Amino acid sequence: MIGDNKIVFSGVQPSGNLTIGNYLGAIKNFSRFSEDYKTFYCVVDLHAITVRQVPAELRRRTYETLALYMACGLDPKKNTLFVQSHVSAHAELGWMLDCYTMFGELSRMTQFKDKSQKHSQNINAGLFTYPTLMAADILLYQTDVVPVGVDQKQHLELARDVAERFNQIYGPTFTVPEGYMSTDTMKIMSLAEPTAKMSKSDTNQNAVVYILDSKDDVMRKFKKAVTDSDACVRYSEDKPGVSNLMTIYRAFTGKTFEEIEREFDGRGYGDFKLAVGEACADGLAPVRDEFARLMADKAHLEEIMKAGADEAAYYARKTMSKVRRKIGFVN
Ligand code: TYM
Repeated sequence: MIGDNKIVFSGVQPSGNLTIGNYLGAIKNFSRFSEDYKTFYCVVDLHAITVRQVPAELRRRTYETLALYMACGLDPKKNTLFVQSHVSAHAELGWMLDCYTMFGELSRMTQFKDKSQKHSQNINAGLFTYPTLMAADILLYQTDVVPVGVDQKQHLELARDVAERFNQIYGPTFTVPEGYMSTDTMKIMSLAEPTAKMSKSDTNQNAVVYILDSKDDVMRKFKKAVTDSDACVRYSEDKPGVSNLMTIYRAFTGKTFEEIEREFDGRGYGDFKLAVGEACADGLAPVRDEFARLMADKAHLEEIMKAGADEAAYYARKTMSKVRRKIGFVN
């Protein structure tokens, strides 16, 4: 708690162009906490270097991710927006928590297994301890609620386990965080392979809709989206392509699945895909416009980063001094 407010923390990696999965599964939900919670939203650049990055691109994407947070409705006056590497306590607590995290626990992380297969030439120690750094991000702010997509659930459980373990050894130190997953959109699937998550690192450009795609690109990608041979717009587990499109359409229009089924009753997939593309492109248009406006003023983004980092560091220091004392480091 800070004052009367519970604390929210979440982060997005500046490791690629952000997708509508990142938008619907995470960022769009962030602003619902702005009024009643103390919110910290971080651009997690330390996490991004677990995979090799081109320095100039990492720098550009860090600005872009901050601008996207704002373009998606996060007002820097109501939310602490900052860059992870600007608050050194993340790396510091990350190291300390490494010493309270088991090799076996980290070995079981599915994202580590996936990424080490994908990047078999660069299975570095950071990729392995990534979840401990994420635990540090969260625990540093005594976070109550962490809004994320379902792919982060296992990492969040690890953060809870580490917090509980530390609290057991040293007495109450960390708040044990809860995840917040918006059941409607916690897993947006690839348009090309609808049984796999839509991922910003996907190399198939038709599989992924980016938040900043032009309307033409959005329409083209939805036209090509994989469906099935059944020609019936119905939500069902055995129709992953159509169900994913319905999920996206529902998220952008607010219509229910029943309403969508009625709307496209007796009409082909062609009409349906056009409607999904239109709804998505129209929903993203204001975000794109605002993003362009914000990116035109780098100095303003830098001011926001700086103010955000100062504010975050203030709260991080409180937790760090508690942790140091509990562990037994000389003050
Ligand atoms: P990242 O950068 O991969 O993704 C950012 C957020 O987007 C969500 N997401 C999705 N949601 C629904 N459908 C999808 N297809 C989809 N793809 C991505 C992710 O679940 C995430 O919420 N490890 C984190 C970043 C992180 C973090 C943290 C998050 C670092 N420290 C502390 C919360 C708290 C990650 O790689 O997210």
